[in-house]
Amino acid sequence: MRFQYIILFFVLISCKTEHSERINTNYLEIPSYLDFGYDAEDVSSLDEDKVSLGRFLFFDPILSRDSSVSCASCHQPAKAFTDGKAKSIGIDGQESKRSAMSLANLLWRKRLMWDGAFESLEDQALQPIEASNEMDLPIADAIARLTGSERYPPLFEKAFGTAEITESRLATAIAQFERTLLSTNSKYDQYLLGEYEPTTQELSGLQLFFTHPTAGEERGGNCGDCHSGFLMINQSFHNTGLDAEFIDSGRADVTGFSFDVGRFKTPSLRNIALTAPYMHDGRFSTLEEVLDHYNEHVMLNSPGLDPLIAAASNEEGGETLQLTAQEKEDIIVFLQMLSDQDFINNTKHQNPFE
Ligand code: HEC
Ligand code: HEC
Repeated sequence: MRFQYIILFFVLISCKTEHSERINTNYLEIPSYLDFGYDAEDVSSLDEDKVSLGRFLFFDPILSRDSSVSCASCHQPAKAFTDGKAKSIGIDGQESKRSAMSLANLLWRKRLMWDGAFESLEDQALQPIEASNEMDLPIADAIARLTGSERYPPLFEKAFGTAEITESRLATAIAQFERTLLSTNSKYDQYLLGEYEPTTQELSGLQLFFTHPTAGEERGGNCGDCHSGFLMINQSFHNTGLDAEFIDSGRADVTGFSFDVGRFKTPSLRNIALTAPYMHDGRFSTLEEVLDHYNEHVMLNSPGLDPLIAAASNEEGGETLQLTAQEKEDIIVFLQMLSDQDFINNTKHQNPFE
């Protein structure tokens, strides 16, 4: 009898470890299939008062020269923290060089920006404040303003123990808020957690998305070669054949290497249906146009075109993917599964001034 209970115990344990579940860590709830690949200290150091202060700072136009632009002007919760524009508009109506990026799941990101210019959220946080085409406020002035305000000294005191406002405290608070922006309750997550039964079309799209095509054997869309794993990222930079000559050098802006010209960071595709327009310069307005690009319009003469794209076709001797119209549609239906209403509506992610 006792022996049977022991067996039963091990059966239950093994079922549980195979089954995905949501794990509560300090402050955050992370699904078991995403519970790796981040710095544990980034989670253990999260502190409610710092996160809450970071949220005020993120939504406060006080950090721009004429108090008209906040981080949230270009990173809006309802658009999964993008702005719906091909290229962002900063202070005095100035256009940015690139398209605003979604800020979901940055906890796992090793490099930031389309060209990987920053390696930590703390380093990145102060750059838009000073950038002349974004918020245009020297950090020393930002600190003086916050110090002179009624709101901020008590909030810094609550978060850091004293009311002193420094560059590093400012960066820490914004970065902590950003690390809490987890998008982990899309239909795709619910499927992984056994809470949602996908349609046949969603399953077909998922299968195509993650399959590398082998002509004559297995049909695939090749997407998961780069947008890989549950976060749909690979921490790397690629030339996806958008141009034969690049106006924006991409990764080469940081490294100076000619082979990096035209390579951009693989963006996550989570919430992609909410973040149009697409690509580093927002050149495509719809997911249909994105699929047409990968399927039919890759510039095969682009120097440094990624081999994962150049070599991939569903037809023997094919130069591009050659998916059918139905297959492209199935992939788009799968991409729509990645929208997370809880993420965009989460009350902890909204403007605290409203
Ligand atoms: C004028 C619009 C604008 C404002 C204001 C703005 N951003 Fe951005 N943000 C962008 C653009 C555009 C990019 C991509 C830039 C690039 O790659 O060169 C970006 C990229 C980022 C990234 C990188 C995300 C990733 O996945 O790599 C982070 C983090 C970020 N912004 C945070 C902030 C914070 C914090 C603030 C406020 C202090 C802020 N942004 C203000 C437009 C803006
Ligand atoms: C070789 C790696 C690679 C492959 C394969 C690949 N992508 Fe991408 N994807 C990228 C990179 C890099 C970017 C950013 C390109 C840029 O803006 O210059 C990108 C951008 C995108 C974007 C726009 C994201 C945004 O935030 O604007 C979408 C949507 C997308 N890819 C979907 C797909 C789909 C669907 C497939 C399969 C049919 C696919 N990708 C295959 C690397 C890849």
